Amino acid sequence: MKIDILTIFPKMFDGFLSESIIKRALEKNLVEINVHDIRKYSTDKHKRVDDYGFGGGQGMVLMPQPIFDAVDDIKTMDSKVILMTPQGKPYKQSKAYDLSKEKHLILICGHYEGFDERIRTLADMEISIGDYVLTGGELASMVITDSVVRLIDGVITTDSHIKDSFNDNLLDYPVYTKPVNFRGMEVPEVLLSGHHKNIDEFRKNESLKRTKERRPDLLEKR
Ligand code: ADE
Repeated sequence: MKIDILTIFPKMFDGFLSESIIKRALEKNLVEINVHDIRKYSTDKHKRVDDYGFGGGQGMVLMPQPIFDAVDDIKTMDSKVILMTPQGKPYKQSKAYDLSKEKHLILICGHYEGFDERIRTLADMEISIGDYVLTGGELASMVITDSVVRLIDGVITTDSHIKDSFNDNLLDYPVYTKPVNFRGMEVPEVLLSGHHKNIDEFRKNESLKRTKERRPDLLEKR
């Protein structure tokens, strides 16, 4: 899979791409991620990428030209173009699974004061990562990238994400490690029993209990 990210703040991605699972996936060539500075595509002599909005009342608005040219340059037959915006469709784990099967994603990071409405015509879909407003789409594009890359074959063991929260609309069951007793808090006995059928049952019940307590809305979807 290839992911191209269009942003006016490319340096924001340095840490994200150089640590942990994303770093390993890049090293193993399981994914290629390119961060493009939108400014590079500006035909303006001062390399401007934004300007005042027509009609007033608005701050700076991202101009269409650099983003259209960037997408023209990067897009292929296999590309899905995604615009990051709080007005987009709420992002869900099921969408992460869908996107992890794509060959090429182009993520366009919007700007908190807005982007020219015509930029919307470039997008195959618009995604919001939640009902709050970020200063730009950069963090949203990292959220999408992170959640998609971990689902690519070979990045983490399939076993790790089959059991994820939200699969089957259930939250994950609790997990424990050593020590068995920590400050008086005990690991549930059944997990030490080696009895796999009982362990599976315990986990299924805990998953259901947790979802009922914390996210009853998910159970309704089941
Ligand atoms: N840009 C600003 N806020 C956002 C959000 N909640 N989701 C996606 N992109 C955004």
